[in-house]
Amino acid sequence: MIEAVGLSKSYDTGPSRVDALCGVSFRIERGEYVAIMGPSGSGKSTLMNLIGLLDSPTAGTYRLDGQSVEDFSDDRLAELRCRRIGFVFQSFHLLPRFSAAKNVELPLAYMGLPRGERRARAVAALASVELGARVDHRPNELSGGERQRVAIARSLVNRPDLLLADEPTGNLDSRSGEEICRLFGRLNRELGVTVVLVTHDRGVAEHTRRILHIRDGALVRDEPLGAPPEGTVVVLPPPPPAPPPLPAGGCVT
Ligand SMILES: Nc1ncnc2c1ncn2[C@@H]1O[C@H](COP(=O)(O)OP(=O)(O)OP(=O)(O)O)[C@@H](O)[C@H]1O
Ligand SMILES: [Mg+2]
Repeated sequence: MIEAVGLSKSYDTGPSRVDALCGVSFRIERGEYVAIMGPSGSGKSTLMNLIGLLDSPTAGTYRLDGQSVEDFSDDRLAELRCRRIGFVFQSFHLLPRFSAAKNVELPLAYMGLPRGERRARAVAALASVELGARVDHRPNELSGGERQRVAIARSLVNRPDLLLADEPTGNLDSRSGEEICRLFGRLNRELGVTVVLVTHDRGVAEHTRRILHIRDGALVRDEPLGAPPEGTVVVLPPPPPAPPPLPAGGCVT
């Protein structure tokens, strides 16, 4: 699904240059649950931004399903981000004035779905993260773990096949963090979503099936892990129908 060959990323900041990634190569197959682990400043977010098509490499090739993404137009990249990739961030990125359901509906607003169907899909996505009883709560009426679950529901509502999470447990206490890790595992097993998460925490990484260790912009170890524990079943509606062409500038996820 994902193939990185000699991926490098340098940032030019005036007089100096930062080599954030230096020739990283790996493959991630469809259906994997993978952690990218490394110390602060090692290039994890830089790599996630490349995987998520939010940035482009300065050297090397990134192929998604066998196609080099440098061949894609900006519109095609925006469409792929919208339809195929879900993003989850450390600080949740929820809109404070919107209810949980409204926040989850946001990615669907760009797909031209009728209002009732948007709401139904948002409620189903919230139920899949066990927040069926919180759909009309605003973010400030939810715990940290619940907020992150709303963000995960939002990332899933388009039924992407790739979920990218950058330090998703970084703002949570250890118990909520555990729940989020288990939830990713369940979504991975039961919906078949490929999950890639970034963490500097070994305990978080051990919930996945494989750890890519990054140090100073280089991949230093590719560590397979054992099988995860079983969980309960997740039910979500199928992906929405093909949307009309995107407006210029892409969409918010
Ligand atoms: N936009 C940018 N401009 C210049 N330098 C940058 C930029 N983004 C990141 N860097 C630098 O690139 C290196 C890697 O940064 P990155 O954010 O990928 O690290 P990280 O592993 O995600 O760290 P953390 O665990 O602290 O989030 C760092 O040295 C950082 O200062
Ligand atoms: Mg980071």
